[in-house]
Amino acid sequence: MKPKALVVGAAGQLGRRLVSSLGGDYEVVAWTRAELDLGDLESIGPKILALRPSVVVNAAAYTAVDKAQSEPELARRVNGQAPGLLGQAARELGIPVVHFSTDYVFSGEKTGPYLETDPTGPLNQYGRTKLEGEQALLAAQPLSLIFRISWVYSFDQPCFYNTMRKLLVTKEELKVVADQIGAPSPAGWLADQAALVLKLWGNMAPEQREAAAGLYHLSPEGQTSWFGFAQEILGSLRLHQEVPCRLSPIPAQDYPTPAQRPANSVMHNRRLAMTFGLPRPDWLTLFFVEIAPNLRGARPSGTKPS
Ligand SMILES: NC(=O)c1ccc[n+]([C@@H]2O[C@H](COP(=O)([O-])OP(=O)(O)OC[C@H]3O[C@@H](n4cnc5c(N)ncnc54)[C@H](OP(=O)(O)O)[C@@H]3O)[C@@H](O)[C@H]2O)c1
Repeated sequence: MKPKALVVGAAGQLGRRLVSSLGGDYEVVAWTRAELDLGDLESIGPKILALRPSVVVNAAAYTAVDKAQSEPELARRVNGQAPGLLGQAARELGIPVVHFSTDYVFSGEKTGPYLETDPTGPLNQYGRTKLEGEQALLAAQPLSLIFRISWVYSFDQPCFYNTMRKLLVTKEELKVVADQIGAPSPAGWLADQAALVLKLWGNMAPEQREAAAGLYHLSPEGQTSWFGFAQEILGSLRLHQEVPCRLSPIPAQDYPTPAQRPANSVMHNRRLAMTFGLPRPDWLTLFFVEIAPNLRGARPSGTKPS
């Protein structure tokens, strides 16, 4: 019989993909907000203890970065406090938590990629609450894995990629921020990597396992700006259809948002590479691997493959 993995936040971009990535090794129990509301802090412990999973994988979060500025209490409960309660229940059961955090724990002022050991300095409520969640989880259950990820996209859920895909075919001109850099990361790749690391970690001897627990940056190689990513999305659309839209780069100050974002979101996977020896593919390669099968399906009706 397979061990049981509980995926919390199973309807999100990453949660959905985790359900399938973990499916080979685990009997996956997929809980959406309907089954477990992380804003209802008292319900967390009893529900996890009743289920008795072998691992808790938390893909749920308050991810509305701008809205978090005006809803800091709810964002703090879901992102800051709930991970600690997941950790407490996990510790009681003697099981690990796999959790996801963000590049937004950093100020973005560093020149070059961020390491796990770099000082944090979130610029907005979302980043502050996510940082609190990392700390709360590791205090409650140190035998956990936290992956800081960034610029997540998927083909079928709301994200920058899908927003661009829609706007590029309906607008004549689009202005996109060019002075914030990061590495776009497909949800499917992130989920596969997290599942693989969990497996490798689980196979380690106990003392090695303890040393290898904690915080990891998980991000593809290379970097681009939102503008650069939009250019690649436009290029991929033009492989299959005429898209007359003109793209222009703008500075972030010309696109004001309630939450300030870091200018540099690039993270280095050094700890992941050194501990688990995993290769780090380029973000652009991953982009084409991720979208190629979907683009074939997305060809406008009535057109023929060339
Ligand atoms: N997206 C990014 O670019 C990005 C970047 C860095 C880090 N991350 C982190 O990666 C993880 C996954 O993000 P994602 O991109 O998959 O986000 P997502 O698509 O917005 O999914 C988040 C999920 O969390 C659920 N959720 C929100 N509030 C909840 C609550 N109170 N109780 C239970 N579930 C709740 C949402 O449910 P509903 O559908 O009901 O709202 C949604 O299914 C998060 O930890 C996020 O902070 C994401």
